[in-house]
Amino acid sequence: MKLSDILKENKRFWEKCFAGSDFDSKSPPSKNILEVIKRLQEYHAHKILDLGCGFGRCSIALAQVGFQVKAVDISSEAIKRVKKWANEEDLSIETEVSSASELVSSSESFDAIICNSVLDHMPFIEASKTMLNIENILKPGGIAYISFDGLEEENEKEFVLLDDGTRRYISGKRKGMLWRFYSDKEIKTLCKGVEILELTVRSNGERDVWIRKKENNFA
Ligand SMILES: C[S@@+](CC[C@H](N)C(=O)[O-])C[C@H]1O[C@@H](n2cnc3c(N)ncnc32)[C@H](O)[C@@H]1O
Repeated sequence: MKLSDILKENKRFWEKCFAGSDFDSKSPPSKNILEVIKRLQEYHAHKILDLGCGFGRCSIALAQVGFQVKAVDISSEAIKRVKKWANEEDLSIETEVSSASELVSSSESFDAIICNSVLDHMPFIEASKTMLNIENILKPGGIAYISFDGLEEENEKEFVLLDDGTRRYISGKRKGMLWRFYSDKEIKTLCKGVEILELTVRSNGERDVWIRKKENNFA
């Protein structure tokens, strides 16, 4: 199967997810995300991109504390949910349906970007393109929070492996979804164009990465 078809299949998975009721819409952001928001406030960020926003739990929480937020997701169903929720809360959130690796709005720039549990759902080559986009659209000195899942033990019969080790689920609840474990070394490779401020491993193996775009790329 061609990579382009595999990516389309992954998009269909997320569309179906958000069109159904599997996701608990309007669930509040986790404690971890609240800490991320606090840090963005301390950083005095103003304009934030929530990349791979899902139904919008981070976007809504960010807008509620006064950030100017843009929410982007590959799933149009996810974006419909964000818009509806924002309307109900009387919040203004700009939205866009786009793959993170092919961001249409890459001419805009942001003080900060949140990309929570998103890169795990793409092969290495797409994650590399996404990181380049993140680098391009951050303002010089801008920061980004990116999280990576820990290694998940799963029923091996439910997926096949792509050449780069990405799992392509072919049965079960995750059928159509892509998931990849990124080693710390691979995370550092993805972040080679930016400064890594922090790479923290949580007790469940998830990694929290804070990066900063260099002020001067010629330095
Ligand atoms: C595990 S959910 C996380 C959602 C959200 N960041 C949060 O913390 O609630 C993964 C999200 O990534 C989105 N996604 C997957 N592949 C993507 C891609 N190539 N570009 C943009 N979004 C993508 C999915 O549609 C889904 O909303």
